[in-house]
Amino acid sequence: MYELRGVTKRYKRGKETVDALDGIDLTIGDGDRLVIQGPTGGGKSTLLQMLGGLDRPTSGSVTLDGTDLAKLSESKLTRVRSENIGFVFQSFNLIPTLTAQENVETALVPLKLKVRERRERAAAALESVGLAERSGHLPAELSGGQQQRVAIARALVKRPKVLLADEPTGNLDESMRDEIMEVLETMWKEHGLTFIMVTHDSAIARKAPRLATIRKGRITVKENVSS
Ligand SMILES: Nc1ncnc2c1ncn2[C@@H]1O[C@H](COP(=O)(O)OP(=O)(O)O)[C@@H](O)[C@H]1O
Ligand SMILES: [Mg+2]
Repeated sequence: MYELRGVTKRYKRGKETVDALDGIDLTIGDGDRLVIQGPTGGGKSTLLQMLGGLDRPTSGSVTLDGTDLAKLSESKLTRVRSENIGFVFQSFNLIPTLTAQENVETALVPLKLKVRERRERAAAALESVGLAERSGHLPAELSGGQQQRVAIARALVKRPKVLLADEPTGNLDESMRDEIMEVLETMWKEHGLTFIMVTHDSAIARKAPRLATIRKGRITVKENVSS
């Protein structure tokens, strides 16, 4: 479970300061799915970075299962990330010189598994997103939708409890968008993930059981009883 209390993030650019997050209080239960919307520059990606321990808040606490991520040492934070938190980004972020299989395996390197287990788990993850036959392909040899599937396999191969997705369909055309949303939805259900997703897609937002809107670093959350 996540508990955020009074989270602020202030960026400094020269003499200018930007309050990207301005006092966020938020609780997210295990297995919940939270959709985040809001205008560009509102603080959505910054919030995801705080949830993922990719960056630290300026003040406040970001507690995951009782551990305040803001207070962890860099090495402990890296460990929490590599074991518990999967990320999917708009831009896929695959390594262009590695095959799909190798890209997925990179997520397992910090877990120090035996080579054979690493191979098998990566292959199984690719199969679960429907890409078993493409495991030897380089990212450039795959469509956008397929590349995002590889990224999803890479995020989930470590069996995290949390999946964070920052506009995962933002770079995809409409047909692929639905396909990727379906994969994410299936993964959320099958793996009992806590799933937090930023999206501009209002159709997805309408259906979301819990919808957060972030504007100027402030959050409002709406429960959708009809979904
Ligand atoms: N690394 C950074 N350095 C300085 N300012 C940043 C940085 N990251 C984000 N910001 C600023 O913080 C605000 C929120 O950004 P962001 O979280 O990326 O918004 P969103 O994802 O909702 O578009 C914006 O004003 C943005 O310019
Ligand atoms: Mg963003």
